[in-house]
Amino acid sequence: MTVFRSAHMNHITNVGTSATGKFHSFAPTSAYMQLTWLGHSCVLLSGTKKVLIDPFIEGGSVASTDPDIVALTHGHADHMGETVALKKKTVAIDDIAKYLKTKGVPAEGMNLGGSMTVDGISFTMTPAVHSAWIEEAGIGCNGGAAAGFVIRMDGVAVYHAGDTALFSDMKLICELYRPDVALLPIGGRFTMGIAEAMIAANFVGAKIVIPIHYNTWEKITVDPLPFKMAIERTTDMKVHILKPGESLEIGAVKG
Ligand code: NI
Ligand code: MN
Repeated sequence: MTVFRSAHMNHITNVGTSATGKFHSFAPTSAYMQLTWLGHSCVLLSGTKKVLIDPFIEGGSVASTDPDIVALTHGHADHMGETVALKKKTVAIDDIAKYLKTKGVPAEGMNLGGSMTVDGISFTMTPAVHSAWIEEAGIGCNGGAAAGFVIRMDGVAVYHAGDTALFSDMKLICELYRPDVALLPIGGRFTMGIAEAMIAANFVGAKIVIPIHYNTWEKITVDPLPFKMAIERTTDMKVHILKPGESLEIGAVKG
């Protein structure tokens, strides 16, 4: 199981409670992965390594996060963001990895359904139902297919859905990878909206759900509160509505 605490609740010590109410203690800090939503689709996972997913934020830079690894879901500008400028080891679909290599980025290509380990961190590339054009290239070029990731680090499995419609094979992501955390787009228009994302959350089955890809711009304006309330009323999942820059600490607990 997993436990969590908000970064602004650091006075709470390293004790988690299981579903049965039994308390477990575990080693401080290193037992945790810190997850920070930087805004839009951009998420930083800090543990053994720093993994930065979709390094784009509106009107700012994520360069100061200094990630070890960048994971890129697809080629759209609001995800590619600073990938080329960062020039970090970058995990992406093979088609984008080849493009990135021409730009001097040390990219590691993979493809849908595949898994690989980079610097001890496990990446599984999951399907996403979305388009994938590489906008970085000016007029553009073929970015293969859009993807999501299951990233496993420090005993915690995080599913980042990327940009996607709802699809029923999200049930397979639950069965195969048992994610502890699901990062799901809810902004609508270009991705799932709230109604679809509620079903996605149930398909994926992660105990911790974090909405992303909303309220960055007017076209994806959404109130995340009904999403949180509906899920928490009907399931034992917990929805964390984070502010940009806000973190959760998530740890794997044995026993
Ligand atoms: Ni997109
Ligand atoms: Mn997008």
